[in-house]
Amino acid sequence: MTVVQSPVPILQNSVEFAAMLDLYRAAAPKRVLEIGTYHGGTLYHWLQNATDGATIVTVDSYRTGVDNRDLYPHWTPDGVTLHVIDGDSRDPNTVAQVALKEATIACKAEARGKKVKWLARRKYVYQCVAEALKGRPSMDIWQLRKGVNMKGLQGQRPGEWGCDPMC
Ligand SMILES: C[S@@+](CC[C@H](N)C(=O)[O-])C[C@H]1O[C@@H](n2cnc3c(N)ncnc32)[C@H](O)[C@@H]1O
Repeated sequence: MTVVQSPVPILQNSVEFAAMLDLYRAAAPKRVLEIGTYHGGTLYHWLQNATDGATIVTVDSYRTGVDNRDLYPHWTPDGVTLHVIDGDSRDPNTVAQVALKEATIACKAEARGKKVKWLARRKYVYQCVAEALKGRPSMDIWQLRKGVNMKGLQGQRPGEWGCDPMC
């Protein structure tokens, strides 16, 4: 079993987390969503053990005052994409941001898989994202469209646990 060491505090039982990491490596997920980044202790391991081509989205409200966002790029290997979302996971705006990221990632992959020609890809991805988010009437698709990231198309207990009472 792996020994787990992190450059920042990690709020996990080390034996449990080592077993979790073994499962993570075996599953090699291409898309990862973490809610509750805090110091980034678990995020560090999701990134360092991510499979090539994986996209990781991590969400935190940053209300605890702990904010290591400047460190995350140093932990992100080449070939892995990290999206950091600053928001409460129960806030519809945060849900919309995550849904948009997920849909964009999936639609870009679909466009690549279908070998859609480069010039047609932007339109393909916009339409695909709009279709994917159609079932979310609370989301303004046209507004969200502006947030679709086309990069890469050519060739992303209060105190101790950092939780509020609902956590
Ligand atoms: C237990 S810590 C996360 C620990 C971290 N995953 C680790 O083990 O290294 C909880 C974190 O979740 C965040 N959090 C709690 N409720 C949240 C919510 N509803 N939306 C977003 N972040 C939340 C807090 O701000 C805090 O940073």
